Amino acid sequence: MSKRWFQAHQRDTWRRQARSKGYRARSAFKLKQIQEKFNLIREGDLVLDVGCHPGGWTQVSVEETGPNGLVIGIDLLASAPVEGAQMVTGDVTDSNSQQRILQLLHDGMKVDGTRLPEPLAGEQRLFNTIVSDISPRLTGQYDRDQAISLELVAMVFDFTLPLLTPGGAFVTKIFQGTGIEGIVNAAKQRFSRVQRFSPDASRNSSSEVFLVCKNKLPRPKKGSGGKSVAYELDRHLESEGIIQPKTEDVESEIKSGFRRIPKKG
Ligand SMILES: C[S@@+](CC[C@H](N)C(=O)[O-])C[C@H]1O[C@@H](n2cnc3c(N)ncnc32)[C@H](O)[C@@H]1O
Repeated sequence: MSKRWFQAHQRDTWRRQARSKGYRARSAFKLKQIQEKFNLIREGDLVLDVGCHPGGWTQVSVEETGPNGLVIGIDLLASAPVEGAQMVTGDVTDSNSQQRILQLLHDGMKVDGTRLPEPLAGEQRLFNTIVSDISPRLTGQYDRDQAISLELVAMVFDFTLPLLTPGGAFVTKIFQGTGIEGIVNAAKQRFSRVQRFSPDASRNSSSEVFLVCKNKLPRPKKGSGGKSVAYELDRHLESEGIIQPKTEDVESEIKSGFRRIPKKG
């Protein structure tokens, strides 16, 4: 039995199961297995699903939060509506998409169609959990795909973490290989617990692994130097001799495209 045949067979098995349970993608089982082990999404949580198309993870997020939760999905590709969730079509690193996410968070429409209570004066509504299965369009050249994916993951951290509440959880897909430690180290500066996990639904089928980060710290540890995850990743890649050091240190603060929406009234 060839390895390739075995992998294809495994994928078909998960696909069939997904179809029989009404999930749009076999990847739904990856989040279900992450959830079984780490209990990241709790009832009533506010969840952001990054790279959500066609909506398998969004369906699981809606199930897990229940009627009192709020689920927003974002993807470059348009997805058919998922009952109870709100879907944004666009690039998560683009400021227009970010403003749309902020607006939906601010509006606070719950899974059951009613609205969350207004946050207290001076407080901003934030997500409890961010789940990201984001993946670039793969070229088939592993090293290239892996490098692009690392950069994308770093951007997702930088663009979405300001919207995650302290104590909140974050999970992202990441492809194993050169430079991954740069992301893991950066995550450890921002969360008290960071673990790699390979759910059965993805084991044997690819080199992907999920980075599960729990308990976001109120502020990054000193080791981050107040820089962004993308910046820390670059420094790691330089120290490993993978990229050339930049001549000028151009970045001085954490970058995020998210702007806060002023409270009404
Ligand atoms: C593996 S798929 C996600 C599958 C999804 N979790 C599910 O269960 O249905 C990865 C997705 O990441 C999306 N993606 C890649 N780059 C993106 C970006 N910059 N902004 C938003 N989505 C992106 C792709 O369009 C793709 O649909």
